[in-house]
Amino acid sequence: MGTPMKSLEGQLVTLRPIDVERDSPEWFEAMQDDEMHLWTGNNIPIDVDEVRDVVLATYANHPGIFAWCIRENRTDKMVGIYWIGVPLTSDEHRLVTFDAQRIAKYFWRKGYTKEARSLVYHYAFTDLGVEEIRASAWELNANSCLSMESAGFELVRSYPRFNRKYDSELIEREYVLRREKWNQLNGKQY
Ligand SMILES: CC(C)(COP(=O)(O)OP(=O)(O)OC[C@H]1O[C@@H](n2cnc3c(N)ncnc32)[C@H](O)[C@@H]1OP(=O)(O)O)[C@@H](O)C(=O)NCCC(=O)NCCS
Repeated sequence: MGTPMKSLEGQLVTLRPIDVERDSPEWFEAMQDDEMHLWTGNNIPIDVDEVRDVVLATYANHPGIFAWCIRENRTDKMVGIYWIGVPLTSDEHRLVTFDAQRIAKYFWRKGYTKEARSLVYHYAFTDLGVEEIRASAWELNANSCLSMESAGFELVRSYPRFNRKYDSELIEREYVLRREKWNQLNGKQY
């Protein structure tokens, strides 16, 4: 199921299904920056094979997610990876998904993540009929928390959880973006 049903095209970026063979050399380069991995389960990969056979193959073939490669329209350079969960019905009878992303450091805070979020959320709320998108981040991952908050995510709860990388208990935040809020912020009606 890992392959999304369609590509999503914007002004700055296009999200297309991951091409494990083609995308791995570029993603290997992007992943050399340690700052990208401070708050994720990833590490700097040893070689391109690891990126192809472990990192990208996992995203592309995972049965529970739809994963895209984000590419810059102007240059066709790889910007990052974006994925959402295959939608499920929550205990409250709402259709929900979760999302996560890894953006190459060079592209941070330049509008690429904002547009990628917008394309994915439009797809989730319209095509997939999702009612809410859930996401979590370590409280100390300011980039992630602020990026989500700027997109309209609301904090649901914070709780201590063991972080293996830091070998200590840290605070994790759970966020939700409801369709109504997204519509309100973007002047849309689905
Ligand atoms: C987390 C991540 C996806 C955020 O993307 P980004 O391109 O850095 O940030 P965005 O462009 O989405 O930020 C949107 C807005 O959030 C706010 N913001 C984000 N980071 C901020 C920071 N460090 N300080 C202040 N404001 C910040 C700003 O208002 C920003 O808008 P502006 O750039 O026009 O001022 C990216 O940094 C990343 O991939 N990090 C490594 C992997 C990771 O941590 N993934 C998430 C795991 S939960």
